[in-house]
Amino acid sequence: MNALFILIAALAGYLLGSIPFGLVITKLAGLGDIRAIGSGNIGATNVLRTGRKDLALATLLLDAGKAGIAAAIFGFFLGTTAGLVAGAAAFAGHCFPVWLNFKGGKGVATFVGTVLVVSWPVGLAVIASWLITAAIFRMSSLGALVGALAAPVAALVLGRPDVAIMTGLLAVMIYWLHRANIGRILKGEEPRIGGGKKTPA
Ligand code: G3P
Repeated sequence: MNALFILIAALAGYLLGSIPFGLVITKLAGLGDIRAIGSGNIGATNVLRTGRKDLALATLLLDAGKAGIAAAIFGFFLGTTAGLVAGAAAFAGHCFPVWLNFKGGKGVATFVGTVLVVSWPVGLAVIASWLITAAIFRMSSLGALVGALAAPVAALVLGRPDVAIMTGLLAVMIYWLHRANIGRILKGEEPRIGGGKKTPA
């Protein structure tokens, strides 16, 4: 694979991923700055804390979609490696967007969007893990942490070491970005889904 193509995939993926849809959507809806609400995160879980399920769903789909589209376009035209790189770069763009002084989201939706494209069975394993965990414990963050762990495990089981390596690296980043959530989970203080508005943590 031409190194220049990989660089183009990384740059385009990063720029696409760095569009902060949660922030843009809530501002357009007149809800102010999402970073001043709840956990302060720009992701769908925090948009849900505004009480607007429609905006949370839109944020989820757009964040997952931007990474999925990057992975799909570059995977289709330049091959599997370029797709993996573009998806991972979109994840990085979401978490460290140039437009927000590199302070972005926690990457879960972009992770799911990328994984669904590069290996849909692994993507389904992530979504199922998230749904089951979130349904039992009513914590989006815990669902994300279990889902992130499920990806490299499922990829290895399904014989996709390339996807296992990529998702393993992104999972490490997801755990790091959720370190405040992990601290709250361990203290029993993590907000539950449907628990209403909270001040920034
Ligand atoms: O996708 C982010 C989620 O796992 C946690 O979000 O807002 O509860 O920190 P939040």
